[in-house]
Amino acid sequence: MRWRGTALVTGASSGLGEEFARQMAQRGCDIIAAARRADRLQALCDRIRAETGRKAVWRVADLATEEGVQTLLAGLDREGIVPDYLVNNAGRGYYGAAVNASAPTNQQMLRLNVEALTTLSLEIGKRMVQRGQGAIINVASAIAYQPAPYFAVYAATKAFVLSFSEALAAELSGSGVRVCTICPGATDSEFSKVAGFRTAIPFATSARDCVRRSLNAFESGSLTYIDGPLNAAGVLFARFIPRAFVTRAIAMAAQK
Ligand SMILES: NC(=O)c1ccc[n+]([C@@H]2O[C@H](COP(=O)([O-])OP(=O)(O)OC[C@H]3O[C@@H](n4cnc5c(N)ncnc54)[C@H](OP(=O)(O)O)[C@@H]3O)[C@@H](O)[C@H]2O)c1
Repeated sequence: MRWRGTALVTGASSGLGEEFARQMAQRGCDIIAAARRADRLQALCDRIRAETGRKAVWRVADLATEEGVQTLLAGLDREGIVPDYLVNNAGRGYYGAAVNASAPTNQQMLRLNVEALTTLSLEIGKRMVQRGQGAIINVASAIAYQPAPYFAVYAATKAFVLSFSEALAAELSGSGVRVCTICPGATDSEFSKVAGFRTAIPFATSARDCVRRSLNAFESGSLTYIDGPLNAAGVLFARFIPRAFVTRAIAMAAQK
């Protein structure tokens, strides 16, 4: 496939989103990078322009608010831009007993991981369908496949992303718009710190490698890509074991 046109990448100020923006520019896309931290986005766009010569602009948006999502969409409409690629990557987690999370933390997780991703997929997807071309890459997680005690709300939001994105992919098949779901495993980024992990996640892969493999999978036509052979094997293996048993095992591992 040939990469061309404009990619809107959410959560581009760090981790996987930053890598999606850089690597999609390297493959031939102009970039619109969105997140809350303007200084990070500006530095990223400067770097992309210097490294690749592609156009790169940033939009500051708090996507955990309806206003932030609508302002981003209105800005695209005002400029007459329908992105060729939408990467719904912005997301956050919370690690700990669900009953101990503050209401605003849970609300932010649900609004960002679920509501913003849904609204952007459907609003931009609608415009892509009208044009007859486009691609949506939604970032779920390998944890989307099973309940995850001490990561309960986060894992549930990612189960939503996986289910919604795979259903949307089927609905839009034949429309010229592809939907691809990416399921990273543990990846080195700011995620664990924001989520409240006490220590770094062991055996984490680099964001650069995860995104390179994910974009390669997208290129080869994958509908859903689970990053890392061990994560893919774990998801497959868990299908043959009672769900309650897997959930208990995750609870025991997460409590340590
Ligand atoms: N790292 C992992 O182990 C892992 C595993 C599976 C799936 N994932 C998923 O991968 C995606 C990227 O995570 P990451 O690992 O790259 O984490 P990260 O380094 O913490 O990046 C998260 C990104 O989301 C943005 N973001 C957070 N809250 C936002 C808000 N309210 N509005 C707009 N943007 C917001 C952050 O930017 P600002 O703070 O500047 O707004 C940042 O750019 C997430 O969806 C995550 O759930 C991560």
